[in-house]
Amino acid sequence: MNRRIDERILDSLSCPCCSEQMRLSEDERSLVCRAPRRHCFDFASAGYVNLALTHSGGGDSKDAVRSRTEFLESGAYERVSDAVNSVLSDYISEGGLVIDAGCGEGYYSCRAARAGFRVAGFDLSKDAVAQAAKRAKREGLANAFFGVGSVFSLPVADSSSDAVVNIFAPCAEAEYCRVLKNGGILAVAYAGREHLMGLKRKIYDSVYTNESRSDMPEGMELLDERRVLYDIELSSEAQIKNLFAMTPYYWRTSAEDKNKLEGLNSLRTEVDIIIAVYRKNG
Ligand SMILES: C[S@@+](CC[C@H](N)C(=O)[O-])C[C@H]1O[C@@H](n2cnc3c(N)ncnc32)[C@H](O)[C@@H]1O
Repeated sequence: MNRRIDERILDSLSCPCCSEQMRLSEDERSLVCRAPRRHCFDFASAGYVNLALTHSGGGDSKDAVRSRTEFLESGAYERVSDAVNSVLSDYISEGGLVIDAGCGEGYYSCRAARAGFRVAGFDLSKDAVAQAAKRAKREGLANAFFGVGSVFSLPVADSSSDAVVNIFAPCAEAEYCRVLKNGGILAVAYAGREHLMGLKRKIYDSVYTNESRSDMPEGMELLDERRVLYDIELSSEAQIKNLFAMTPYYWRTSAEDKNKLEGLNSLRTEVDIIIAVYRKNG
């Protein structure tokens, strides 16, 4: 199965073993580096490339990926994705290269690619990246590429990217700063004070608002901060459980509290997302 990959995305990829630039093999089945040893990484049948050096797996499980896919496809977070795309349109040119660090199953990456940006998404979860690559293929997005890789060690060349987006995923600021061009932007989306309060009230006896973040990535300045605040109405137990499974609370909640969602068929809850935009200083 031969692969095509956008030239500008290809030029930005670096070998995870030796940091040399990558190129497409002659049969277009693999990415190979330009070093004498030619480290070689094959495209999986789903269309992604595993550029992680360890084989220990990690990242979201198949079930978590399925929950997120089902939830995001309902359109409930479309306004979050629109807000991320507006940030990109406001700060970088169309066709600019965006790294989606911790891209999950590619919902945000593919919507950014549809808006005209070149997007390379990386995630530690093979299941998530496989979904992302299938989504890009289904949507005919030749300007999106997906690879398995850690956000702490991106297979991306220094100073090659116009933007890094980091949506509810681990934030590796120093690594994002390395791959950004001078003047490039980092957009970090995280939960605001009221995020999912309605859901939390169903589960916990006492609920707390989220704390605001004040950390500042080194070598960057805060340019902009946008709040996306609206209510969503969920009308099935399956979607309520999908949303819950996407949250960090899922892993720290007792079976007894989780059971409170059994038989719950409707839920109104707040979506409150902050998108902080930083610029890399030259
Ligand atoms: C909450 S999900 C968010 C996914 C996606 N950005 C979204 O909002 O739909 C967090 C993602 O980070 C990934 N992840 C966790 N640790 C990672 C790491 N060190 N490097 C890359 N991805 C990681 C998980 O596999 C998961 O897909």
